[in-house]
Amino acid sequence: MIQLGATSPLDNVSYEDLYARWEKGNWRATELDFTVDKEQWETQFSDLERAAALWNYSLFFWGEDAVADGLSPYIGAAPLEEQKYFLATQQVDEARHAVFFKRFMTEVAGVGGSSTGDALTAIKPQLTWGFTKVFDRLELMSEELRRDRSITKLAQAITLYHIVIEATLAQPGQHFITSYLEDRKLLPGFREGMENVATDEQRHIGFGVKMLSDLRKMDPDVPAAVADLLREVIPWTASVLIPPNWDERYIECFGFTMADIGEEGATSLETKLRTAGMPIDGLPGPPIFAISGTPRERAIIGKRMVKAGYLGEKLGPPSTEREDMRLLFEAVASGLDVSKSPGSGTIQWDFPDAEPWHVVVDNGSTRAEPGRVTDPTVTLRARFEDFVDVTSKRVDPRRLALRGGLRPSGDVRWLWRARRMFPS
Ligand SMILES: [Fe+2]
Ligand SMILES: [Fe+2]
Repeated sequence: MIQLGATSPLDNVSYEDLYARWEKGNWRATELDFTVDKEQWETQFSDLERAAALWNYSLFFWGEDAVADGLSPYIGAAPLEEQKYFLATQQVDEARHAVFFKRFMTEVAGVGGSSTGDALTAIKPQLTWGFTKVFDRLELMSEELRRDRSITKLAQAITLYHIVIEATLAQPGQHFITSYLEDRKLLPGFREGMENVATDEQRHIGFGVKMLSDLRKMDPDVPAAVADLLREVIPWTASVLIPPNWDERYIECFGFTMADIGEEGATSLETKLRTAGMPIDGLPGPPIFAISGTPRERAIIGKRMVKAGYLGEKLGPPSTEREDMRLLFEAVASGLDVSKSPGSGTIQWDFPDAEPWHVVVDNGSTRAEPGRVTDPTVTLRARFEDFVDVTSKRVDPRRLALRGGLRPSGDVRWLWRARRMFPS
């Protein structure tokens, strides 16, 4: 555990300062001049770049509208007046950001009708599966927080909104957009707005980190609640920025790769949680990331697992390539909470539709290997496709077992005693 000492970046942050920074940073979305932007959008962007930018900016437009709508219950649940006031300023900011993107959509990109609702309907087909999962969860979280104002629920809500959506997903995307527009000196009105949005978001994220740190001090159950929320939503984040038809030129045409943006998000998530006094690998329960490695390695593996059909939207049967399956079984092995195992053992998987794999459960050297062992502790027989539906949480394992799709044999009592080792 990292201790928060005199060197914590939070020492110099107060809710009053954050509020004062909001007053000083006020800007007008309605006064940005998009005249040059409109001309450059038509003449300086290729067809691919226009399609790519429209896709990316649509995610932001939808996101800003959703976070503006979803923040009210946070104001109600915040314990301190200073926190409520800051959150009220944040809600105004998010509305301003939505107005800014709406103006860009109608005045520059020529998308949508006169009302914001029409423009949102027009861009809805651009949203990705992962994006929809995360923002549906935000909507549900707001409803939950309205009924349950507990410190643990509020900590989960702040983790989803300020840490996952703002710090992990939005901030790297803003950085990506502002840097290529700056390099190419394009869209001056939009760029100015994006820079203002980025400054606002930095303030929101700073607030979220401080708030999370303070909530942690108020209730010892906060780290476990935060960990549960992260285990639920982190797998979706790998699918948020998957371009239409996997056409990676949607990102690369602007000089970045998917790994660059994913790495920045993963690093940001780690840093913010550490600053809030809850380093990711010190959180209680099974590991948050079933994938190990540096933030860049995790970003690359996460993308590959989405492409193989092991994470995210189900588009067909999963990949049965040996190297893809290795990633999946390594994730299965490192996702086990070995401290809950009733001693060492070997789990053998037998699939009619893919190669067999096994996981050796052994505190300190738990590992996944291809092929069969001669004396597994338990053998699980299932179709590989069904197994992937379980690991990706598309199907409840109990349901699969009930309909005979998951058949254990061997020392079934060991498996029963080991059940808490599996992620719920
Ligand atoms: Fe925003
Ligand atoms: Fe924000």
